[in-house]
Amino acid sequence: MDKPRVVLGVGGGIAAYKACEVLRGLTESGHDVRVVPTDAALNFVGAATFEALSGHPVHTGVFTEVPDVQHVRVGKDADLVMVVPATADLLARAAHGLADDLLTNTLLTARCPVAFFPAMHTEMWEHPATRDNVALLRARGLLVAEPDSGRLTGVDNGKGRLADPREIVDLARLLLAEPAALPRDLTGIRVAISAGGTREALDPVRYLGNRSSGKQGYALARVAAQRGADVTLIAAHTVALPQPAGVEVRHVSSARELGEAVHAASADADVVVMAAAVADFRPAERADHKIKKSDDQPDPTITLVRNPDILAELVKNRREGQIIVGFAAETGDEAGGVLEHARAKLKRKGCDLLVVNAVGDGKAFEVEDNGGWLLTAPALGGAERPIPLGSKSQLASAVWDAVSELTAH
Ligand code: CTP
Repeated sequence: MDKPRVVLGVGGGIAAYKACEVLRGLTESGHDVRVVPTDAALNFVGAATFEALSGHPVHTGVFTEVPDVQHVRVGKDADLVMVVPATADLLARAAHGLADDLLTNTLLTARCPVAFFPAMHTEMWEHPATRDNVALLRARGLLVAEPDSGRLTGVDNGKGRLADPREIVDLARLLLAEPAALPRDLTGIRVAISAGGTREALDPVRYLGNRSSGKQGYALARVAAQRGADVTLIAAHTVALPQPAGVEVRHVSSARELGEAVHAASADADVVVMAAAVADFRPAERADHKIKKSDDQPDPTITLVRNPDILAELVKNRREGQIIVGFAAETGDEAGGVLEHARAKLKRKGCDLLVVNAVGDGKAFEVEDNGGWLLTAPALGGAERPIPLGSKSQLASAVWDAVSELTAH
């Protein structure tokens, strides 16, 4: 199969150096990348770097390779065009259809998905001119990702930081898989998502935990934010993951802490998604000091007590119109298959949507791809949709498609 062809446009901002990481991530995951910088971008990163990393020549203007009609061909041949970083100037030129260099020509000739990843100072991002340009581009169906908050050039801090390069590569993969996957249909919707695995302390150094990586919850947060939602992510121990751009993250540890944070966030949330692996039990006692082995004492026995079922509590206290999404990790056994267990769980938990992952044998935990079913409560039509095996962002998209349908009614 031909490699997907990605055009990586690079704007003239200090974050241009991070485009090299995006380029690396894309080529290493099997994409053919053509870099099209602006002249200004070459003040930050030299053409030789882009040529060496992409394996293609790099031009900025329309007067090179003229017989090949490059200014039309580069855009027409692309499967995806990404602009990293998108400066305020580039967003303005794109919004108004200017075509004064190879990149802006490419943006006008592209018939594939186009995504902008802005980076600029907060004042520029918040300026009405930029807001209007972003709104115009989004209204035309282009993706303008939310920038991150944090350290900017110099001593400044605030919104306008380029999204994490790993996030950008992940979104590129999602856009190539499902070009229509990122509408702004969740604009104005507040969502709370739990992710990761809780830890129940036995003593100051030991705990009972589980193998959840948190990647699925983070993917749900990332995709919801890019579709316009206002997202709070409650993260219990995850592997090291980039912070999704535009998402407020609260870190917790135990099931009870997670419960408190989820209930607080759900008070004004339209949608709550319980993607975290919550420990059903915790040690009845937590030792203040490290538990020591001793030849004089019998070996310790751990007594477990039940943790609250947060999903069940959410369903019990749900606000009018609030949508609650649960996850079920099932292996199937002699009493029934994965789907039979899942249907029973949907009924028992009383949530509106249940995402069902088949687990075991390397499926779902600690892996990049996920698949399963999406079950809708009988009262809401009882649909049972298979989710084909794909990236965790693709599964997240399927969940938000279903939520979006429910919120539209
Ligand atoms: N969950 C929760 N609180 C718990 C345990 C689970 O909110 N104490 C949530 C999970 O986040 C998930 C859903 O409930 O969305 C299903 O979790 P799972 O562990 O599969 O379900 P259980 O009810 O524990 O069922 P069982 O262990 O019997 O399979």
